Amino acid sequence: MTAILVGMSAGVDPDALTGLARAADAEVAFLQVHDPALIDVLTSVADRGASDVLLIGAGWAQSGPKRSWLRRVAAHWLRSYDGAPTLRLAPQLLAAPDEELLAAAIAAGGTPMADDAAPLHSPAWEKVPRHRHQVLVCRGPRCSALGASALTSAFGDELRRAGLGDDDALVTVTGCQFPCNHAPVVTVQPDDAWYGRVTVDEVPGLVEAHLLNEERAAHLLLPRERSAARASAEYSDRGPRL
Ligand code: FES
Repeated sequence: MTAILVGMSAGVDPDALTGLARAADAEVAFLQVHDPALIDVLTSVADRGASDVLLIGAGWAQSGPKRSWLRRVAAHWLRSYDGAPTLRLAPQLLAAPDEELLAAAIAAGGTPMADDAAPLHSPAWEKVPRHRHQVLVCRGPRCSALGASALTSAFGDELRRAGLGDDDALVTVTGCQFPCNHAPVVTVQPDDAWYGRVTVDEVPGLVEAHLLNEERAAHLLLPRERSAARASAEYSDRGPRL
């Protein structure tokens, strides 16, 4: 059997999961943000002749859709690959996987999946969300090396504690946002607020100041060369600069 350890959330540490998978002679794949993507790893192991594949979701400590995302993506791949191997899903996600938990999950195996799981599309995902703020957490190389890997889940935890949902603030990870010397960098849009040296300990204060009270967290704020008024004028003159 081929085991694939699947990083579920944007906040997982890809290097840590890769090391863990290698130590257990398993493959590693990611459901979002990081590479390699799950469908690419499934195709690769199937092309190499795997006949029985076990998916073990990892790194998702929050409540929410959890396994259904993994199930939907895996079923989508099953429907599209001719002669797909038996695909099994481990019964539990490993919120904080370690060598022992991973070995136990591999030994326990999983339930074979059918290809009739729900599709990737849903009416619930049709509309552009109405969030007031978008929190962009940089996961570029410098920010990731200086602590950004813990920030995404820290923002998620703090937003829940503050009673803010996806309509209030949407947390999104990005690649390098450029002012790497101030890593880890977090920006809050559409307010054009750039914050530097954001640590996990700073997250509650930043959420309270900016997202709850609409005040900038001044001690973390980075200077901007273009004024907000000029940026706004450029936007309306030429449209967004993509
Ligand atoms: S890596 Fe984060 S700003 Fe460059």
